[in-house]
Amino acid sequence: MPTFTFDRLALAVSVLTPKLIRLRYARNGKFAKRRAWAVTKDDSEFAPTQSDVNETSQEIIINTKAISIHIQRDTGKIHFTDSQNKIFCADDARPSVTSVTKSVAKSVATGEHFYGFGERTYSSLERSGCIYTHWATDTAVPHTPDVDRMYVAIPIYFSVRPNLDYAVYFNNTYRSQFDVGYTDPNQIRFSADGGEIDYYVFYGPTPREVNEGIAQLLGTHPLPPRWALGYHQSRWGYKSDQEIRKLAKEFRQREIPCDVIHFDIDYMDGYRVFTWHPTRFKNPKKLIADLRRDGFRAVTIIDPGVKADKKYFVYQEGLKKNYFVKKQNGKVFHGYVWPDDSVFADFTRDDVRDWWGELQKHLTDKGVSGIWNDMNEPAVFSKPFSAGVGNTGTIDLDAKQSDTTHAEAHNVFGYNMARASYEGLRKLLPDERAFTLTRSGFAGMQKFSAGWSGDNHAWWEHLETSLPQACNMGLSGVSFFGADIGGFNSDASPELFARWMQVGSLYPFARGHSHTDSIYQEPWRFGERVEKICRDYLRLRYRLLPYLYSLFYESSQHGTPIWRPMFYHYPNDERTYHLHDQVMIGDSILVAPIYKANCDRRVVYLPQGEWFDYWTDEKIAGATHITAHAPLEVMPLYVRAGAVIPSGPDLNYADEKPLSPLTLDVYAGEGEFTLYEDDGHTFEYEKGVFAITRLEIRDSRLKIHKREGNYAPPSRKIIIRPHGMERKETVEVED
Ligand code: GLC
Repeated sequence: MPTFTFDRLALAVSVLTPKLIRLRYARNGKFAKRRAWAVTKDDSEFAPTQSDVNETSQEIIINTKAISIHIQRDTGKIHFTDSQNKIFCADDARPSVTSVTKSVAKSVATGEHFYGFGERTYSSLERSGCIYTHWATDTAVPHTPDVDRMYVAIPIYFSVRPNLDYAVYFNNTYRSQFDVGYTDPNQIRFSADGGEIDYYVFYGPTPREVNEGIAQLLGTHPLPPRWALGYHQSRWGYKSDQEIRKLAKEFRQREIPCDVIHFDIDYMDGYRVFTWHPTRFKNPKKLIADLRRDGFRAVTIIDPGVKADKKYFVYQEGLKKNYFVKKQNGKVFHGYVWPDDSVFADFTRDDVRDWWGELQKHLTDKGVSGIWNDMNEPAVFSKPFSAGVGNTGTIDLDAKQSDTTHAEAHNVFGYNMARASYEGLRKLLPDERAFTLTRSGFAGMQKFSAGWSGDNHAWWEHLETSLPQACNMGLSGVSFFGADIGGFNSDASPELFARWMQVGSLYPFARGHSHTDSIYQEPWRFGERVEKICRDYLRLRYRLLPYLYSLFYESSQHGTPIWRPMFYHYPNDERTYHLHDQVMIGDSILVAPIYKANCDRRVVYLPQGEWFDYWTDEKIAGATHITAHAPLEVMPLYVRAGAVIPSGPDLNYADEKPLSPLTLDVYAGEGEFTLYEDDGHTFEYEKGVFAITRLEIRDSRLKIHKREGNYAPPSRKIIIRPHGMERKETVEVED
């Protein structure tokens, strides 16, 4: 690792791969203690990679196989160049590292566009011209465009211009800010309240390769169980055993697919985590076993606030073992949350995470299949919940956590809680993949959990915002993400609910959820017409499970987002750079929802190449803007020419029956798809028990390559359905 010094400012450059470079700065040559919460690998754990150093009178140049890093001798400023000598990620000034400021200023290149920044409000995809703060916050106010701090903090930006994409991850968990050309239109500046200047640059040049770099450093979503890709139904709160049973029955009677029921805080005994309410949920084991027989999984909420109740085992144990966060004066920190007076586990500690992970046994023993980690910014109310919620704050910033303070640990509180949950479940359920969901998180949270966008409203604006939000989360590394379908706060109208379910049924994480003060928002609450729309779109999701599951596999291997902004596949088409309201699901399906009331039309941009209207098979030549006609029953969907889309039968839940027949919709053109299959719920795939089938279409002819891997799918028929080809008839073959 070459180290350079400029005016007592030391710079360490680590070439981790030819496309992944780490830069660290230290005043007086002293590098701070390494914090490795988010990254998967320390520098020394990367395989050695070749680079050479060239020195000129003006510059020191480090060349990797893909790019060059230039350090100016007189100023210490850095810039990067690609193989075409194009400059990127260039310092505008030398980084400032004093006891009060820690900041880096980069010049914005002509035509450079910025994305990522984790979870954000406001319905724009491209994010130039604003300031973004990274500080995990219980955003209890409506998520309007003026809201800057959200539940998740991911200090990553993703830069796009023709033929040159890269990303930057600021490896600093203190409160930080990215000023994206707001103060100075020619500058993107990142700064933090403490810690070091330590950042990584991921070079593409394509978006896919950028995500691959992010995955190498910050990890990927492990492959979820297939049932977790089904529809999840939630509400704050289903208050009793009977209510949950009734809910489950409704789904099956109405034949609306659903796999998961979420148990919100009311299942607990006085909001004491890891307990069950003694009268309303008398026999949770039986309830969950009965649900399971009907094809439902149970996911229970867990909050970090532990009720300060001397008679409660979690509080007693945590106190005895010294597991709770302490104030500067050494006393345990107390704050109000749902159970009123509460204390908080210090998730930065390995022993505390292990303890918390094991506590989940009280739930898994009853048959619970997943944990929903909530309120883990963490949220702390200004007064008891029993007296009304009051304002939300957090733990005192000078409270101690491991060998640091909450100021540094705050942004990773939710991240570390999700880690405790994920790692604990892995031990408790060694043969079954579990599901974890978290509200708060940090860069790299995908290693442990799916995420959702918190307490949105039943507003058209929030339906709209969910598109760029999910895309930017995917670019930031978190693909398994969705918004509460129908909106959490306020009451959805039938029309809003129908439109939201259309697009929500294709969110990577598809869950309907609503607030205890809002109307019930299950799919049948809005009349028959809307119920049918919900059924039809959820069925579409379930038929597409082979496609979606393959995308999740790809994401688990390479960090490729499931939902992708249009530029992901058309990075050189600048018309895609601001398209916030249409999304690619994988590289074959384009979804363009309606997000306005009383509206049955919208403009859709179809980039270069040929496209098919999913509903009518009409062939449309791109690049073009079209007006899509979309009465309430229709959400505009398009398929790229050369696509092969695998799908399965209609299902009431993901594992209801074997994937038979397997249908391949083949669209004229050139392309390919990799179908991934395994048993859908165990870890056998980690030992190679999975099957990969490459489906290739050339000259409009489909070639099914020989299946690779050790998993044998059920014996089945394969139905091949041609689209846009001379030959119209469907063909059936034995697999
Ligand atoms: C928070 C969560 C919400 C949940 C509620 C009650 O507001 O964001 O999803 O329903 O708490 O647990």
